[in-house]
Amino acid sequence: MSHAYPYGLGCRIWPHARIDYPDWNLQEVITIHRDRLQNFLFHKGGFTSQASAERFWHIMLALAEKPTSAEYTIQVLREQYLAFPEATTYGQREATLTGDAAQSILDTLHGVDSSDVRFPIGGEKPANLIDIGCAEGQKTSALAEAWGLPHQHAIGLDIVPANSLPTNIDFEIMLPDTLPERILYNSQDLAIVSMVFHHSTNPRALLQSIHSALRPGGYLIIREHNANATPHMASFLDTVHIFYDAVFAGKTCMPNAQTYKSFEEWQDIFQSQGFEHIKSDYTPFSANPRAGVQANANTGENFTCVLRKNKP
Ligand SMILES: C[S@@+](CC[C@H](N)C(=O)[O-])C[C@H]1O[C@@H](n2cnc3c(N)ncnc32)[C@H](O)[C@@H]1O
Repeated sequence: MSHAYPYGLGCRIWPHARIDYPDWNLQEVITIHRDRLQNFLFHKGGFTSQASAERFWHIMLALAEKPTSAEYTIQVLREQYLAFPEATTYGQREATLTGDAAQSILDTLHGVDSSDVRFPIGGEKPANLIDIGCAEGQKTSALAEAWGLPHQHAIGLDIVPANSLPTNIDFEIMLPDTLPERILYNSQDLAIVSMVFHHSTNPRALLQSIHSALRPGGYLIIREHNANATPHMASFLDTVHIFYDAVFAGKTCMPNAQTYKSFEEWQDIFQSQGFEHIKSDYTPFSANPRAGVQANANTGENFTCVLRKNKP
């Protein structure tokens, strides 16, 4: 069921539950993605052991077998999650995950392979940046701090107002897929779009807007899901979104255009809008260390890529 999204202060807060996932099928996710789901609960939900993540998975299984509405299912999952001691420390877990994601952006950008990254004005460090879809600006703030940027040179943008912003960044509201007028043509060294494109109804329009805002040779860092890494990945990603927003954090589900695409499809779109691929970091999820592959926490099949605006 879909409802109009009330863009306004406080609209992220439960119990104004809004479910944006008309085809969400918990039963399918539970049975097809058992390992992935349990690892997701453990790594992202802050469960303190694999055993407690598995216990929660069994609660989900029992619930999925009942023919209840998505809204009701989510409400019960939230209540069940709150009964776990892990729920009291979810805020800390979220902060750690944000810090890790900011570090992964820095690592990707300054990894040995990309030692030739030179920002148009800033050189080794960007002179300024915009972070599109920054939510509460935690990642924007961590990056601004890492690069020593003054607040007016680190601007977080989002279609939803932030509730409590870090003091070392600026924030500006934007319309979906359109940068605000404050962000001038050819003005930015770096743009970041982290886990936003699958929420966008018009990724090409957003890319064009970013292309205009970047200086020639400016960089764009994107974090996204590789959505065809395995069959039924879209169902799993729907579940991930519902969990982050409603079950773990007790907030409204944010609008999700469910623009799920493969890594290759995304690269084609980025390049068609005038961006050159510089490098990507992507380690597929693996749940089976005995197979000789390191188990890793990338249950959402996230990739990070660095692109550069082609010089005219
Ligand atoms: C999953 S959150 C990602 C937050 C943050 N960038 C991160 O990596 O943790 C997606 C954010 O994108 C915003 N958003 C959704 N659609 C958007 C659009 N079309 N244009 C800009 N921002 C959008 C949402 O309000 C939300 O804050």
